[in-house]
Amino acid sequence: MFDKSKLEKFNQQHFLELEKLMSANEKENIANKLESLDLSSIMDMYQSLYVEQSQNKSEAASEASEVKYRVREDFSAEELNAYYDKGIAAIKNGEFAVVLMAGGQGTRLGYDGPKGSFEIEGVSLFELQARQLLKLKEQTGHTVDWYIMTSDINDEATQKFFKDQNYFGYDPEAIHFFKQENIVALNEDGGIILTEKAEVMETPNGNGGVFKALDKYGYLDKMEEDGVKFIFINNIDNVLARVLDPVFAGFTAEANRDISTKSIRPKENESVGRLVNIDSKDAVLEYSELGDSDVHQFQNANIGIHAFKLAFIQSAVNREMPYHLAVKQLKQLDEDYNVVKDTALKFELFYFDIFKYATSFITLQVPREEEFSPLKNREGKDSVETATEDLKRLNLIQ
Ligand code: UD1
Repeated sequence: MFDKSKLEKFNQQHFLELEKLMSANEKENIANKLESLDLSSIMDMYQSLYVEQSQNKSEAASEASEVKYRVREDFSAEELNAYYDKGIAAIKNGEFAVVLMAGGQGTRLGYDGPKGSFEIEGVSLFELQARQLLKLKEQTGHTVDWYIMTSDINDEATQKFFKDQNYFGYDPEAIHFFKQENIVALNEDGGIILTEKAEVMETPNGNGGVFKALDKYGYLDKMEEDGVKFIFINNIDNVLARVLDPVFAGFTAEANRDISTKSIRPKENESVGRLVNIDSKDAVLEYSELGDSDVHQFQNANIGIHAFKLAFIQSAVNREMPYHLAVKQLKQLDEDYNVVKDTALKFELFYFDIFKYATSFITLQVPREEEFSPLKNREGKDSVETATEDLKRLNLIQ
């Protein structure tokens, strides 16, 4: 059933041994899955990202300069009011759609469910964001379409959570779930891994899968038909994220760039990407790929909040995006079919790699204490404790 020569050609001959331990059913499923994979591209990716370690952005840091940015605290009250009014008018006019990236795993938090269903004092992260869209509805009379990216690991649970919570009172017709794609994980020898359920291991393809997934579901076309001009996007785990706040919406509409970004000033050694300009284009240098000496020089941290011009996303959605490597310890079957925790190479697309296809950019730096408090860990920094404190400080929970 297994294609011996193909497996040998692409370094997957371990399946010829494993085959002896598989049930007939498992064998069929695994063989079909292997048949559907583009093993040649997977091996190229393994070769360049793992064997040759070609992913090295810290070199880029030496050529990078600060992005052009405005600081919100420098605006006068009149300017702020003008942006606010412009934002409200654009939202009312249906010019914005909101996309929430919530396909990630939240392993560091040690929580099994979708990260957005994690509750702080009885309020889930999804609810914190839904409340803001409800408020916008009250202010503008317009129901903003809310596109929520899930993945195979949490789609069902996410949709069930929304249903059980009665969609937080938001119009279910305006909530659109869509799933990002998966990609196989490999062991250190480049072999495809089996999960403890004896299935080919696949993991979500990183948040950069967002654009193709939106397109695949027909949602970019829908947005265009609906008259949307800008896609506002944000992460699930920033408990202070201001979802489509009118001042940023007005700033975006006024500037009319391909990409508008919100940033904060990074703390020293903080695990956040740095916004930089390289060859006249804004980019994000990811913290996990930066050298220690590089991180201090840039004044704008990426907090995953942007507004993309829809026309730009439509023009760039089919352009190539590079994969990035993440080395994890994941449960898997070893060569004797025992469940073990071992190294797994995960491959991820980063949404900000689409920046290089854009031609115009603008950044608004906002105060961290008002807009950034990520929930990443169970304890310590960026934890349940710090998120709870910040939400209480701003009266967002009681
Ligand atoms: C991310 C940013 C980083 C930024 C930081 C701020 C990326 C690659 N890096 O880092 O520059 O400084 O947030 O908090 O975005 N997600 C998916 N599908 C996936 C993987 C992730 O939807 O396959 C979503 C997560 O649910 C989350 C967001 O993308 O909402 C960010 O992902 P995460 O893995 O938490 O990135 P960070 O390491 O926090």
